Amino acid sequence: MSLAPVPAAAPEADLPPAARAHVIAVVERLRALPGALLPILHGIQDGLGHVPAAAVPIVAQALNLSRAEVHGVISFYHHFRSEAPGRHVLQLCRAEACQAMGARELERHLHDRLGIGFHETTADGTLTLEPVYCLGNCACAPSAMLDGDVHGRLGVEAIDRLLATCEADR
Ligand code: FES
Repeated sequence: MSLAPVPAAAPEADLPPAARAHVIAVVERLRALPGALLPILHGIQDGLGHVPAAAVPIVAQALNLSRAEVHGVISFYHHFRSEAPGRHVLQLCRAEACQAMGARELERHLHDRLGIGFHETTADGTLTLEPVYCLGNCACAPSAMLDGDVHGRLGVEAIDRLLATCEADR
């Protein structure tokens, strides 16, 4: 299979040089994989914290896809973000075991306390709140993940302690 060259510059590119270099490096490294789109999007988000809109044409051209196809995948999977996250990312589990053990109460508490919904970031940029659907920690439900660390058996007080660690570095 012949692959289209990675574009040296896209007209609408508004990525800072380091971000652009990251996107191109990920695309070059992974584009020959079967089903390369998802690994590429993961690689971009792992490095930049999100998949910027300006990365979409680069990925689309390299994989011979339309921009709409790439955008469709980004918006289909909850995991991918199009906007840069806050300094901390809290992912609250909304899957069954956690729901059964009180995750809804945590959800309400977080929305009230932070003044944001899922997929939103506090006005001061401290925290992004996201839903997640099972962290593999069901035995210790309800669970959440803060900046990659899983926490279980959470109640309102425990989640407030997690928030306090984020707010401390404001
Ligand atoms: S259902 Fe929440 S960790 Fe599995």
